[in-house]
Amino acid sequence: MLPTLHLIQEQQGYISPEAEEYAAQKLGLPAVEVREVVSFYTMFSTEPRGRHHIKVCDSLSCWVCGSSGIREHLRSRLGIEPGETTSDGEISWEVVPDCLGACELAPMIQLDGINKGLLTPEKLDALLDGISPVFQSREKGDQK
Ligand code: FES
Repeated sequence: MLPTLHLIQEQQGYISPEAEEYAAQKLGLPAVEVREVVSFYTMFSTEPRGRHHIKVCDSLSCWVCGSSGIREHLRSRLGIEPGETTSDGEISWEVVPDCLGACELAPMIQLDGINKGLLTPEKLDALLDGISPVFQSREKGDQK
């Protein structure tokens, strides 16, 4: 079931009730079992996300190494709060309280499921510039 749900989320950005029904039908399982798995794992979202999704680790090692600065920089740079999506649908982000399993990279984020660590505001800016040229040009005042 997990690979199926990962594939759905990768393609749709989240797992809708209709997608849960579809997965249950294809896997020959009761829909409630799929619902239980989706709601158990924080890696699955039941809300639409941006085309790129960022998870900011806020567990102990990242917190000690400055995750609050990373959070504040993201909030300032994107102009949205955790759980929100930029108006162009490009980027969403969230703060996760559980360790993402890469403490040696603290402070770290997952960008579209890929670990990015030893972050500074400058490194975070470079990542954001790299994933969203539209966002980058908009910031520079180019409205084309
Ligand atoms: S505390 Fe952030 S990856 Fe472990």
